[in-house]
Amino acid sequence: MYREKEFSKIDQEIDKLKNKIKGLEDLKVSDTVFDRFTLLTLYDIVNRGYFEVLYGAVKTGKESNVFLAKDSSGQQVAVKIHRMVTSDFHAMIKYIEGDRRFSKIKKSRRSTILTWVEKEFQNLKTAYDAGVNVPRPIFSKKNVVVMEFIGTGDSAAPTLKEVKTASDDVFLQVAKDMKTLFQAGLVHGDLSEYNILLQDGEAVLIDLSQSVPIDHPLAEELLKRDVKNVCRHFDKKFDKLYNSIIG
Ligand SMILES: Nc1ncnc2c1ncn2[C@@H]1O[C@H](COP(=O)(O)OP(=O)(O)OP(=O)(O)O)[C@@H](O)[C@H]1O
Ligand SMILES: [Mg+2]
Repeated sequence: MYREKEFSKIDQEIDKLKNKIKGLEDLKVSDTVFDRFTLLTLYDIVNRGYFEVLYGAVKTGKESNVFLAKDSSGQQVAVKIHRMVTSDFHAMIKYIEGDRRFSKIKKSRRSTILTWVEKEFQNLKTAYDAGVNVPRPIFSKKNVVVMEFIGTGDSAAPTLKEVKTASDDVFLQVAKDMKTLFQAGLVHGDLSEYNILLQDGEAVLIDLSQSVPIDHPLAEELLKRDVKNVCRHFDKKFDKLYNSIIG
């Protein structure tokens, strides 16, 4: 009886929070994203003024959901929420272990995911400060990262995977950004056409949660894989362009 009462109190509280984050009701995203922990975090971020209204999901993934949001002046931001319940946190551990920035963490589901998100935000800051073309990091708390929204109007910029045109300028810029990132002490670690957006003819590197410091045990292997992925992608595009020219 007592427990039931308690649960209904929590339900009421959650409903109140849901009403306070505008747009949440219309999102129809399953409760595995907006659990109580996440709602409280979002509520705090809204109170701090980083966004006011949460619009549609830009992308609903297995590990995270990215939303377009707007602050009170209508300024767009991207809100990336890592799922606390369904994330495969075991896969995250090998990218955290060996990273001196996070040597003292517990390996529970919760701390691993929170460290993962903190790592993404720190990586984004390092990259941004070094001049790598990444979304401007704005704020992060618990399992949520707020960053610059890369897109036109309310649509997110397409990934390189979704773009038809080949451009050696874009290739050169990605190569330059990879080098700048390395010089800033990081290897992206998950770079491919899926994690590069194209905005106004410029590549924007995203999804830096997997990025590791250059002295990490996996750094060399990941850098080689990143380089291979990028070259494979542009090779294919150049082949296509060449074939279309010669008919
Ligand atoms: N700052 C941003 N601005 C606009 N769109 C973004 C931004 N960040 C991410 N996205 C969109 O959300 C998608 C997923 O983002 P991201 O790659 O960071 O997450 P993910 O962890 O790979 O998601 P998943 O759980 O599917 O693996 C991107 O492909 C892009 O379409
Ligand atoms: Mg991604």
